[in-house]
Amino acid sequence: MKRLCVIGMGYVGLTTATCFADLGNHVVGLDIDDSKVESLRAGVPPIYEPGLEELLRRNLKAGRLTFTTSYEEAIPGAEFVFLAVGTPPGWEGEADIKYVRAAAESLAPYLTGYTVIVNKSTVPIGTGNLIASIIERVNPQAKFDVVSNPEFLREGSAIHDFMNPDRIVLGASNPEAAERVKELHAPLNAPVIVTDIRTAEMIKYASNAFLATRISFINEIAAICDQVGADVKMVAKGMGMDKRIGPAFLEAGLGFGGSCFPKDVEALAHMAATHGCHPQLLRTVMDINQDQRRVVIQRLREVFGSLDGLVVGVLGLSFKPNTDDVRAAPAIDVIHLLLSEGARVRAYDPVAINSARKVLDDLVEYCENSYEVARGADALVVATEWNEFKQLDLVRIKELMRHPVIVDGRNIYEPKTMFGLGFVYFGIGRGLRREAELIARATIKREIPLKFDK
Ligand SMILES: NC(=O)c1ccc[n+]([C@@H]2O[C@H](COP(=O)([O-])OP(=O)(O)OC[C@H]3O[C@@H](n4cnc5c(N)ncnc54)[C@H](O)[C@@H]3O)[C@@H](O)[C@H]2O)c1
Repeated sequence: MKRLCVIGMGYVGLTTATCFADLGNHVVGLDIDDSKVESLRAGVPPIYEPGLEELLRRNLKAGRLTFTTSYEEAIPGAEFVFLAVGTPPGWEGEADIKYVRAAAESLAPYLTGYTVIVNKSTVPIGTGNLIASIIERVNPQAKFDVVSNPEFLREGSAIHDFMNPDRIVLGASNPEAAERVKELHAPLNAPVIVTDIRTAEMIKYASNAFLATRISFINEIAAICDQVGADVKMVAKGMGMDKRIGPAFLEAGLGFGGSCFPKDVEALAHMAATHGCHPQLLRTVMDINQDQRRVVIQRLREVFGSLDGLVVGVLGLSFKPNTDDVRAAPAIDVIHLLLSEGARVRAYDPVAINSARKVLDDLVEYCENSYEVARGADALVVATEWNEFKQLDLVRIKELMRHPVIVDGRNIYEPKTMFGLGFVYFGIGRGLRREAELIARATIKREIPLKFDK
């Protein structure tokens, strides 16, 4: 049993703290947010993450997991101090490391004995060394090493991913420190790769940028598929069967979102530019991703001419299923675009309405379920692929809608089934625009002429 402190009780820190406690360690979770700590002490996770609540309660009860806002209480005696604070985008798209700096300043005075500082936050290359220099400045007597241990978990399956990592990356200048962190992870039975600190920091950015690139790649292919009449889903399947390519992250849709990919690609591009490189590929990946949100508007314009006065229902607000995180969510961008075109928006999400309310306020009418969203709507947009949207009673949905138009931004429905039900259905890159056009001509009774008529 080791003594750990984890700083920052967000998606990464809270998962790290509860999982390490569950592996038998004594863990103190530290956050500067009083309300988060209060809630965690009561066994209520401030975020939605499948399986987290049960794990939290079990380890609180067993006395292996405690929470505090006090560095003075949390740091002394800790053998490992994990940093998992946020690194949001700064003014120019760079990763803002003010919370990392602040945490290093705050923890330094309380280090006792030898401590390994393990950085899990996604940080610009060189931050590991910066953390070390801050601690040395604040507490010249401190005995410590810094290890970079980037996190690869995905929201929505954070506990599973933490417990079953594909690999553990450890960057250290002192191999003994890396060895200690490796031992701590031994129960996970995962392959470990040990590098220098800078290389470990870069592995995280390069991994996220590569996954984001795959998504933008398939979205570009989807746009071509729509024009030439091919089906991107089958294209991706056919590509993914090639072992050199693999099937993951080849789903065409409204593009990537969330608290990692957009900000990490942007931060990497910024870092590249400030070091004299010209990150053309990364910039294009971001451009394609932003354009992808506009596909919804384009399709609705094709059908209705103008969006002014339309009632558009949005299914899903979180950036992906099984999370309440709406940071950089495609749904939020799409909603802003719809509103700027004069549409009225109503929306539903199984868990993310409270988070969405914080960013959208009352710009949107929030509904209790998908059927309420559909009632009287001119069009529906599927923005997040929650399982419950795949099981909807589509006959009922169609009866409730004023016009049976669906833009399926996540390709969760089969075009032929949707046409059979009489929907003016658009997927992303499914290549059946002509069929949608025919149904639109027959069903849309609106004074605005259809673009197809021109
Ligand atoms: N969310 C993910 O899926 C994910 C995955 C891999 C890596 N990451 C990276 O991990 C880091 C954390 O991400 P997150 O999504 O968990 O962040 P988050 O915003 O959910 O949580 C960060 C927490 O840190 C706390 N905090 C800020 N300053 C603090 C301080 N000085 N002392 C103590 N607590 C402080 C905040 O109150 C907040 O609770 C980021 O660098 C992110 O890029 C995130």
